[in-house]
Amino acid sequence: MLAGLADAEGLGAKLAAQGLICTALDEAGESAAWLAEHRADAIVLPLRLPLLRRLHVDFPSLPIIVLGTWEDSDDAIEAVQAGAYDFLPEPVDADELAELLGEAIPGGEESAPPLPATETIDNGLVGRSRAMGKLYRDIAKLAATPVTVLIRGETGSGKELVARALWQHGHRAHVPLVVVNCAAIPENLLESELFGYERGAFTGATTARKGKFEQANGSTLFLDEIGDMSLPLQAKMLRVLQEKRVERVGGKGEVPVDVRLIAATHQPLEKMVEEGRFREDLYYRLQTATLQVPPLRDRMGDVELLTNFFLQRFQRELDISGTTLSREALSLLVRQPWPGNVRQLQNVLRRAVLKRRGLLIGKEDIRQLLDAESRPMGATSRSLGELALEALEEAEAQGEGNALRAIVAHAEEAVIREALKRSGGNQSKASRWLGITRLTLREKLKALAR
Ligand SMILES: Nc1ncnc2c1ncn2[C@@H]1O[C@H](COP(=O)(O)OP(=O)(O)O)[C@@H](O)[C@H]1O
Ligand SMILES: [Mg+2]
Repeated sequence: MLAGLADAEGLGAKLAAQGLICTALDEAGESAAWLAEHRADAIVLPLRLPLLRRLHVDFPSLPIIVLGTWEDSDDAIEAVQAGAYDFLPEPVDADELAELLGEAIPGGEESAPPLPATETIDNGLVGRSRAMGKLYRDIAKLAATPVTVLIRGETGSGKELVARALWQHGHRAHVPLVVVNCAAIPENLLESELFGYERGAFTGATTARKGKFEQANGSTLFLDEIGDMSLPLQAKMLRVLQEKRVERVGGKGEVPVDVRLIAATHQPLEKMVEEGRFREDLYYRLQTATLQVPPLRDRMGDVELLTNFFLQRFQRELDISGTTLSREALSLLVRQPWPGNVRQLQNVLRRAVLKRRGLLIGKEDIRQLLDAESRPMGATSRSLGELALEALEEAEAQGEGNALRAIVAHAEEAVIREALKRSGGNQSKASRWLGITRLTLREKLKALAR
């Protein structure tokens, strides 16, 4: 028996055709009373959190499927935390609903107990594709547990946002999330960044400093790009995870720490383990709970939603209004492969808003921006001034950035390429002109090829 609370027009008949008996109920009170007297196998209801919570508390063993339209992960995550078995975006496909009910009913499994309500985050994940729905459900299940979570997914797919959602919807959301990006910190500094140091541990260590592990004591630590961590540091990490104690660099004793760890990487860890570049024991320790963030090309239905979201966000941030996107421009966006995922889409739209400032963004604007994006070394053919402006505008829009490093890297690349061209590819000549060793030049070339 299925109690479909409101919004059941048409659906009931279609579900009946699939052998599911459906009873439509309108009022919250009516449904609770009905459910108390009849035997139902599942509840289907529109997204209304108080009702969902109430029904889930009163009928904890009934799978509840929530129907709704949302643009944001928060509602969906909160729905699952409030006890929803799963949710379906509207308009509802009766076959999909029947399939979901079939999956929900026979096993008769308990859905998670309702978790404490959380604040809405303004940095939620946008997307209502099935792939994202599964992700929200997985986040909801893991958020309020203390387990270490490994987030995997291509670069730009939203791993950091997933980490924030896990933290935000967990028990430690009242204490700040501590974030370390292992790829952004030079290897020789990462150790003291993570574990801290005692006074006199090395030249320049004039005072003792807590590392991120200690700072995250009682809180959550997000280690981004953990695949980029060196082997010796991996060993040290593993020890911290096992023993829940850290030793500062140059320290004499260990300090106990209670840290919930979330890690992320886009690297192929299995391959790295095979090649001896990532510790197998650490890998096993990390991968017990894994969240896979889908690449944008596997959820192209979300492109339009993301596009609207970013258009609004950038206009708000840049204090611009009235910018719109043509149908043709949108259809071009929807047909891209997006190797750089949401980050790439976001960059294209930020540039489009900056370029058009309140005017219609057309197909040609998008085409040009996409070209500039995809030209592999196209950056060097634009002037440094232009690049500087772009990097600063982007940083301004985001409130932070890497403008200096980005421009220095572009300048370095330009002069290296020019030197090689002039020397006819002769590396020792080029390195002499550049004033660096051949080894350094080779390292830099390797980095450029990546
Ligand atoms: N689903 C999403 N909704 C809204 N913004 C997103 C989404 N996924 C990614 N982003 C944005 O794209 C950029 C890249 O996301 P990020 O989490 O840093 O990716 P990753 O860590 O996987 O490389 C960020 O600015 C982030 O805010
Ligand atoms: Mg990241």
